[in-house]
Amino acid sequence: MLLEVQNLKVKYGSIEALHGISFNVKEGEIVTLIGANGAGKTTTLHTITRVPPPEGPKVCEGDILFKGKSILNLEPHEVVHKLHIGLAPEGRHIFGNLTVEENLKLATYARNDDSKIKEDYKLVYRLFPRLYERRKQRSESLSGGEQQMLAVGRALMTGANFLLLDEPSMGLAPLLMYEMFRALKELNQKEGITILLIEQNALLALQFAHRGYVLDTGEIVLSGTSEELLNNPEVKKAYLGG
Ligand SMILES: Nc1ncnc2c1ncn2[C@@H]1O[C@H](COP(=O)(O)OP(=O)(O)OP(=O)(O)O)[C@@H](O)[C@H]1O
Ligand SMILES: [Mg+2]
Repeated sequence: MLLEVQNLKVKYGSIEALHGISFNVKEGEIVTLIGANGAGKTTTLHTITRVPPPEGPKVCEGDILFKGKSILNLEPHEVVHKLHIGLAPEGRHIFGNLTVEENLKLATYARNDDSKIKEDYKLVYRLFPRLYERRKQRSESLSGGEQQMLAVGRALMTGANFLLLDEPSMGLAPLLMYEMFRALKELNQKEGITILLIEQNALLALQFAHRGYVLDTGEIVLSGTSEELLNNPEVKKAYLGG
């Protein structure tokens, strides 16, 4: 098992955001965690990537295992550079005053595998030709969708082979959304990149992932293959508009 979240309870101060959730991701899979606003999706990703308190979530029970070993004692940079987990965060957090190229370059600072870095640039620009066209452009002048692509590209440039994506469809027009998910599928199928996808757009997520979990106010209430979830009456009613 690549990632195993076990009975995870997480608090912000006195507010418990996750009430003991368990799920797993195997190597090569696309797994989605779907849920409404405030369900605890971002909290889950921030706990895995070890965003520290006080702003970050604090684990009070449970464990997170990566290849069988607990990662709760790791620092955020160790999660990125030792485990090769890349986060494309909610709200993107790219450096607006830097160009596309500079944002990508910055993500490689801790790497010394120069030939692989070159390949990764090629990969990112092949996946997202728009980023190549706009590589000299300041990132703040990109459209929301292009910034989202840059956030994914940047996660790849850290050398990640496991991507955590926080609502990559957020705010995207249908055409860009399609481009984004086509690129992500290619990453999974051709490059063997494992993906944990957090989404509010359940239909999109379940069409794309192999399997999924439904997170409802801090609890996992359902799980199954994407097909099972798409056909589940409760999922249909609550997340797919009936
Ligand atoms: N830094 C924080 N301090 C205090 N409470 C927080 C913090 N971040 C999140 N929360 C609370 O934890 C709960 C889960 O929030 P989280 O951001 O994980 O939800 P989400 O599923 O990502 O929602 P959205 O779809 O709106 O992004 C919410 O009740 C939220 O108010
Ligand atoms: Mg969120």
